[in-house]
Amino acid sequence: MKCAIISGASSGLGAAFVKAISAQKVKPDEIWVIARRRERLAELAGQVSCPVRILALDLTRHDDLELLRQTLADFRPEVRILVNAAGYGRIGDCQDSEAADQAHMIDLNCRALVQVTQLILPYMSKQARILQIASVAAYQPLPGLAVYAASKSFVLSYSRALRWELFPRGIHVTAVCPYWIKDTEFIPVARQGAQPGQIRHFPLAGRSRWVVARALFDSRLNLPVCTPDLQSLLLRILDKFIPHEISIAGWVFLRRL
Ligand SMILES: NC(=O)c1ccc[n+]([C@@H]2O[C@H](COP(=O)([O-])OP(=O)(O)OC[C@H]3O[C@@H](n4cnc5c(N)ncnc54)[C@H](OP(=O)(O)O)[C@@H]3O)[C@@H](O)[C@H]2O)c1
Repeated sequence: MKCAIISGASSGLGAAFVKAISAQKVKPDEIWVIARRRERLAELAGQVSCPVRILALDLTRHDDLELLRQTLADFRPEVRILVNAAGYGRIGDCQDSEAADQAHMIDLNCRALVQVTQLILPYMSKQARILQIASVAAYQPLPGLAVYAASKSFVLSYSRALRWELFPRGIHVTAVCPYWIKDTEFIPVARQGAQPGQIRHFPLAGRSRWVVARALFDSRLNLPVCTPDLQSLLLRILDKFIPHEISIAGWVFLRRL
């Protein structure tokens, strides 16, 4: 059985990936969707033409990862595409944040992403594709989003190295680095508990449908990194030329406007 596995599928980018993959000419036999909110996954399953297997899992929990391992062992699917989209950020200075919240963010954005990839790799073969959802935040340290930006640098670095390791097996790995996206739950979740004036505006934010279309296209081209919009491409290029101390100062100024 050929399948696609998408984490973070109960909203935002993950849900948009499920819709886009189920609308492709060549569809997988099943799409496995992972997130904590079962009812949202069930709703999504009713909206797409592909059969959907719902895995209501909290990827930061050891027992839930074990359940994923067991489900894979039971069904032994041929995983053609894996999208690791589960993740979140929190706006706020580190000194004002809960240590447990920061650790939880690292657990989901970094540890869970690695563990899910690791569990699924034995079920992938030549021409299979992995899309790791990082962020343009991976390119520079961001005061006010420090742990989040660092976690996404981890994802970018890990994905680029993994790509080379998997090259002999013919498995493609693409790190996706979008700019702000307005039609997902990311910004409201990131703002929960934020002090007023931390980051006030999210100018030129894009849309999940376009990010997903571009990410799937770039992954088919086997690109190592996808900067799916003009804003993220520009920031990626600027990162090559502007020293971090200057770009950080620019961010600190702009985020308060
Ligand atoms: N939106 C942006 O501006 C933006 C920009 C760049 C990168 N990104 C990245 O894109 C990815 C997707 O974000 P999004 O914008 O689509 O935000 P979103 O709408 O908030 O989606 C996040 C997804 O992660 C799932 N999730 C959260 N905690 C989880 C856990 N413990 N276990 C399993 N699943 C969990 C959520 O589902 P449940 O709550 O049901 O578990 C949800 O489906 C994230 O990695 C984010 O960092 C977003």
